[in-house]
Amino acid sequence: MTSNWSITNKPEFQALLQEKDRLKNQSIIKLFSEQPNRANDLTIAQAGIELDYSRHAIDRQGFDALFKIIDRSDSHRFANELLGGSNVNFTEKQPALHSLFRNRSSEKKHIVVSEIQQKMAHIVEDIVNGNKKGFTGKAFTDVVNLGIGGSYLGPKLVFESLSNYRNHLHCHFVSNLDPEDLKATLLTLQPETTLFVVCSKSFKTEETLINAQNAKNWLMKAGAKDLENNFIAITENTKAAQGFSIPAENCLLLPKEVVGRYSIWTSAGLTCALGIGWKSFNELLSGAEAMDSHFKSASPNENLPVIMSLLEFWYRNCWNTQVHAIIPYSHNLRSLPSHLQQLVMESNGKNALASGEFLESDTASVVWGTDGINGQHSFYQFLHQGTVLCPIDFILPLSPISGDSNQHSKMVSHCLAQARALMIGRSTDESYNYLVKKGLPEKYSRDLAPHLRMPGNRPSSIISFESLNPSVLGSLLALYEHKTYFSARLWGINPFDQWGVELGKTISENIQTVMFENEDCNELDPATHRLISKWKKTTLAD
Ligand code: F6P
Repeated sequence: MTSNWSITNKPEFQALLQEKDRLKNQSIIKLFSEQPNRANDLTIAQAGIELDYSRHAIDRQGFDALFKIIDRSDSHRFANELLGGSNVNFTEKQPALHSLFRNRSSEKKHIVVSEIQQKMAHIVEDIVNGNKKGFTGKAFTDVVNLGIGGSYLGPKLVFESLSNYRNHLHCHFVSNLDPEDLKATLLTLQPETTLFVVCSKSFKTEETLINAQNAKNWLMKAGAKDLENNFIAITENTKAAQGFSIPAENCLLLPKEVVGRYSIWTSAGLTCALGIGWKSFNELLSGAEAMDSHFKSASPNENLPVIMSLLEFWYRNCWNTQVHAIIPYSHNLRSLPSHLQQLVMESNGKNALASGEFLESDTASVVWGTDGINGQHSFYQFLHQGTVLCPIDFILPLSPISGDSNQHSKMVSHCLAQARALMIGRSTDESYNYLVKKGLPEKYSRDLAPHLRMPGNRPSSIISFESLNPSVLGSLLALYEHKTYFSARLWGINPFDQWGVELGKTISENIQTVMFENEDCNELDPATHRLISKWKKTTLAD
């Protein structure tokens, strides 16, 4: 069902490269005078989200060539195959079912999805209302999510983002194998009122299982006789969870067809559903569903995920950019860059085609970023004057979720100012005039001007919405999921597997036998052996 060709071999790609050559020295700001309605023409609002993609190095003719890269039917076909349950995960020969969990309107609900959601709803109601209690009969005050990767980043992001929708439950997220993570979290918690949610699709992830074991020991030490009250497992591997002594009724299924980094909509979202309540969690699903419908029905040139994916293709494959920054002007969305880093890089950091051949063109960029205001005082110098071209997605809530709207407005002004400064830049002459006007001596101004020069022409999108609420957040996250999926389909790779993470895990097991069981392992290289010996000397000396 998937392609075994490289999109860069298409004749349309050669035409697109010519467009890039034509536009490579074109000033973006000049494109606005050439296309008077550009700001409106290149803005689309759908499902609560507005994409302004006017600050990009591409004009009408360039867009025409870019859209020709896909066949007109591609976007509908790709969306239908994902949302209709085809085997889009072609290496594991299965569908990717995350969207099913947010399909609120379907009359015939998938039976497994319904069962999971009903069980989840009961758990959430019981715990939030205080009906389900801890091992001494007290209601829960705290929930600790133990999980990593997709079993951590999405739930943490949603809980952080929706701070004004929270109830009395304090949610905590522990992912690190470093014992300091769990230790610091447990410091202020009481065992009798703490619920642990072990979120691990495989129930094999070493980091999560060690944290779960330590949490179990902490509870037992405080007098718990079993895990019946204070532990819930979210997993595909319920047998292993039960082997860990979590009773079957406390296990929520995470189906194998749901990939970790796309799993926030499913049982993997339990911790944040506990923190924001079932109603708000459902609004999150509704927002995502609105984006699903948009992805499925909109024509390519009005389709937000498709446009974002094609712009990624434009820069990555025609301009050879290596990086892509995600910069939210929102404290609550501060974890969005990390979530999208896993979503994009674990999904599309690949180069094998369905045919087994290797793709000659580039795939995913390095995705990075932090919240905008802090970024301005850290890496923006690099964005403005560095030698790397880095397309940016600014994420901008127009109104605050609470508090001082004046203060929030200042943040909006910073975001707009940065997007403009990156686009227009400042020439050496302008810099010189600016310095002279400031009263600096002529000679010094001349010497200093090159250091103030900013090349400009640095592209960005502004993705804005009225204010952050569960529905908008759902739509935003689904937008990036579909954009990532669409890019994978363009390149012909599978966004739903992650074979690349396996080898490191296996080697770590081998290394542990050498470290802890003193086994010889001739397969290891001298550099690894040297550090193992050093580690042995250091730890044995203690
Ligand atoms: O190692 C990568 C990975 O498999 C991710 O894809 C996943 O989100 C994470 O580990 C956690 O996996 P699990 O939920 O099975 O513990």
